[in-house]
Amino acid sequence: MVPTVEWKDGVVRLLDQSRLPEHVEFLDCRDYRAVADAIRGLKVRGAPAIGVTAALGVALGAQAIGGADFSGFSQAVAAICDHLAATRPTAVNLFWAIERMKKKLASLAGQPIASAKASLIIEAQAILEEDIALCKAIGKHGAGLIKDGQTVLTHCNAGALATAGYGTALGVIRAAWEQGKQIQVIADETRPVLQGARLTAWELMQDQIPVTLITDSMAGSLMRQGKIQLCVVGADRIAANGDVANKIGTYSVAVLAKAHGIPFYVAAPYSTIDLKTKTGADVPIEQRNPLEVTTIHGSHPIAPTGVAVYNPAFDVTPAELITGIITERGVFKPSELARQFAL
Ligand code: MRU
Repeated sequence: MVPTVEWKDGVVRLLDQSRLPEHVEFLDCRDYRAVADAIRGLKVRGAPAIGVTAALGVALGAQAIGGADFSGFSQAVAAICDHLAATRPTAVNLFWAIERMKKKLASLAGQPIASAKASLIIEAQAILEEDIALCKAIGKHGAGLIKDGQTVLTHCNAGALATAGYGTALGVIRAAWEQGKQIQVIADETRPVLQGARLTAWELMQDQIPVTLITDSMAGSLMRQGKIQLCVVGADRIAANGDVANKIGTYSVAVLAKAHGIPFYVAAPYSTIDLKTKTGADVPIEQRNPLEVTTIHGSHPIAPTGVAVYNPAFDVTPAELITGIITERGVFKPSELARQFAL
């Protein structure tokens, strides 16, 4: 896979996901504001990838700060952190990564600014490397849940593109495939931004993993016909009680899976688990531009001008609909998560 995001010759280089699948193009962000714009504009998206990108954005912004006084440097980095934190509200990985960069900065107090700047780059790169390792561990723990010959449904994109590499939900699928299992993937197209059609289908085809694209409204019919044996999705934030916020439409898939007796799994690393958020009702849900719903690609209209639009980017799947949460430490019931991940 091409890297989703990387530190390259002093810039943050992103694979521009808003251009996929037609164009494989890279975007070089030369300052932290460009990184923030890229996150806000979905050029990079997916909870872990957003977190990694924000960490690199903090490091990038820090390099441009002048002056030799640590407290001034610290304040300027804090302002960069605030700017990046204001990009998207739901994926907790964004705030987790920024917090980790702030902690690193605090641990550097009193050091020469040049070495503090270098340490922030190293920390951001460590977050990136760790994310790939977490995804591979998630894949290892989840692969056994998929049996040879099964068909798995996924929603949105929780793949290499949504992480620093390998993926969470697609990491589980990828690991099962690497074990030689002959599996099929059904990708929901994921209206309105079409992450399933544009990204998941593209990513799986790159790896020659068999994938069939359906519109979101087809999932229930396929389940009723016995064509899906398991569902696995990613997460943007998992609350302490095991409720999961993920791409809009995830809840519908979970309800359908329950109605048809199909196991429904969520795959996510510890950086997505937010024990400070007690339940799914406490997760801030991002509202996005109505043009995502009323047009194709922001230009071709598919609805009457002026129609009222409701466009929440995420929904909450209650813990009771979730068979298990696949993490880098193993597979847990939603109710076990708080104990397993308590500090
Ligand atoms: O709006 P997006 O594309 O950032 O939403 C992404 C999702 O909802 C993913 O399913 C989630 O972040 C998990 S990614 C491993």
